Amino acid sequence: MTDLFATTTDAQPAREQLGEGAVLLRGCVGDDEQALLVDLRTIIKAAPFRHLVTPGGHTMSVAMTNCGRVGWVSDARGYRYDPVDPDSGRNWPEMPPSLRSVAARAAAEGGYENFAPDACLINRYKPGAKMSLHQDKDELDLGAPIVSVSLGLPATFLFGGFTRHAPQKRYRLTHGDVVVWGGASRLAYHGVAPLPEGEHPVMGAQRINLTFRKTR
Ligand code: SIN
Ligand code: FE2
Repeated sequence: MTDLFATTTDAQPAREQLGEGAVLLRGCVGDDEQALLVDLRTIIKAAPFRHLVTPGGHTMSVAMTNCGRVGWVSDARGYRYDPVDPDSGRNWPEMPPSLRSVAARAAAEGGYENFAPDACLINRYKPGAKMSLHQDKDELDLGAPIVSVSLGLPATFLFGGFTRHAPQKRYRLTHGDVVVWGGASRLAYHGVAPLPEGEHPVMGAQRINLTFRKTR
């Protein structure tokens, strides 16, 4: 359990409430980082990053891949969870125990016991890439939270509105931070501001975000 009074080096609290049912757990990845990065490399080899096209015909600035029973895909037909990677024609790589356990531990720290995700969407941001405001609502089970793990360059995360135009708060997410949102915040709008230039000592000139979802 995170010490409520612990602080990270830049004097940010280890735990910050973003809303009802939503919490930012700074540095929550902790000692699981090495195993997670090794497994991530294997996944990315089997299912390389690609820039998806939205149903509206816009190519996303974030590159994506997935692991788990199903993966999130977008094309001219719409958004969906699909067991097959359209680039390879094969199933997505399995979700390794290292990823599962980080997600379950963070969810529990956020107040959601027994989180069992069946999808992990992996987003890669190079400098300039962003994610427009959206809700995660393609999942059938809205009772389960979203667990989002940040790696690499720091980003500004926008979170909190319940309509597209409601104001959001801005949070800096750094390497090893985890955001968990469910309950009353499950359908909160969120997004990521354009990633600033930089070089991360472990991850290089990029940010990688893992979002774990229970889709059914
Ligand atoms: C997402 O909403 O899918 C990604 C959020 C993030 O990159 O922090
Ligand atoms: Fe999202």
